[in-house]
Amino acid sequence: MSADPDPSAQHGPRHVAIIMDGNGRWAQARGRPRLFGHHAGAKRVRDVVQACPELGIKYLTIFAFSTENWKRTQVEVAGLMSLFRRYIAKETKDLFSEGIRVHFIGDRDRLDPKLVELMRGLEEMTRDNDLVHLTIALNYGSRDEVARATKLLARDVARGELDPEDVDEETLTRYLDTRVLPDPDLVIRTSGEARISNFLLWQSAYAEYEFVDTLWPDFTPDELARLCRNYGSRDRRFGAVRA
Ligand code: FPP
Repeated sequence: MSADPDPSAQHGPRHVAIIMDGNGRWAQARGRPRLFGHHAGAKRVRDVVQACPELGIKYLTIFAFSTENWKRTQVEVAGLMSLFRRYIAKETKDLFSEGIRVHFIGDRDRLDPKLVELMRGLEEMTRDNDLVHLTIALNYGSRDEVARATKLLARDVARGELDPEDVDEETLTRYLDTRVLPDPDLVIRTSGEARISNFLLWQSAYAEYEFVDTLWPDFTPDELARLCRNYGSRDRRFGAVRA
């Protein structure tokens, strides 16, 4: 599927972050189990990643599993974990040959070691790619990320490697999972919910937000192109006043 060609793409967002919501409702509306919706959602990821280059999106960050998602039924959690394993195993070659660099953010300690190994393999294999940086948030929560970053920072202080007087915003940023990424310019949430659910709270301090009714499995590159055009027409001042 190809996206609308967008002549203003150069003024569009460079980093788009997406809360992919609505898979469960999409499946329920079809009388199917929730996992059917997650599988349909996984297919959408591919279409959206492929649309990024022509929209000028260099960084795409997607929320695949939150630190709160463990509260879902055991069947759904196990199904999602199996989907992630299969997705990585199946997509690795294509992501590599299409020039996509993949990163994962989130706490890997609670994830199955086999999944962590696949994640590491995909990161390693695509490390020299640079067309689009796809970041998949897996067992990610923003507060958890800030807590883990603070722990690492405190360790460096305790070891005498960091002077507390030198700690500023930029220092903390260096300890976050997202340290290699620019801040998101545009955060999109699908499915009509207007919440940010613990996603990139620190990083999105100046992001623009779009909440759309579309359920994630129905989200298309054309809709992404439209949201990028909206973004291009916004006046971002970062707290300053236009001269
Ligand atoms: C939210 O929909 C979606 C998730 C918790 C999982 C997101 C996962 C995918 C899109 C699939 C796979 C992704 C990759 C990278 C392979 P929901 O279940 O909360 O929907 P609902 O609000 O309608 O119940």
